Formats: sequence, C-alpha cells, structure tokens
Amino acid sequence: MPEKIRVCALDDLEEEDVMRVDHGDISLIVIHGPDGRFYATDGYCTHERQHLSDGIVDGFEIECPLHFGAFDYRSGDPVTPPVCVALRTYPVAVEGDDVFVEV
Ligand code: FES
Repeated sequence: MPEKIRVCALDDLEEEDVMRVDHGDISLIVIHGPDGRFYATDGYCTHERQHLSDGIVDGFEIECPLHFGAFDYRSGDPVTPPVCVALRTYPVAVEGDDVFVEV
C-alpha cells in the first residue's frame, strides 16, 4: 500500500535544486524541475552506491558525482554512460504549499 509522505514546502527547493529525503529504508531525491514541477526518484545511482543528492541538475537530467553518468529524472532513464539501468521514479503531488511523494 503506497504511503504519501510530505517531503518539503514549495519554497524549500529552487528550480534545478535537489534534496535528499530518507524515509525508513528508502532514500530518495526530490528535484524541482525547470518546468516548475517536482520529481522524485531513488536516491542511489544504479551504477554504484553513490547518492545522487550530491549530483548536478542540468535541465531535466541529473549527473552522478562519482562517474558522471546521467539520468533523465522525469522517467528515471539513463542518458549518459556508465549508467545503463533506470532509476525508479515516484509520484509527486503538490497540495497547498507542501510537496508529497508517494512511496
Ligand atoms: S556511481 Fe553513479 S555513475 Fe558511477
């Protein structure tokens, strides 16, 4: 059964900023895209165990800080090697001034 968790307030993340969210055994990143929407994916890179909250957001991509592989965080799809396995994505909802992720 999915659980909806509040991750931040709308104003907490500027566009193209990324935030780490830990909830139980799950570690996510939440990104405020340049389209004004919020996105959430698994926090750890699928290449090695590097957290993407230290990565660089460029448009709709996030670049892993360890080997510079990149993902499209809207779909989770890998776009730049060495990453070749997609990140899991999570539904995000904005309600009032708060951002929620369904995990
Ligand atoms: S750990 Fe992310 S690209 Fe290698």
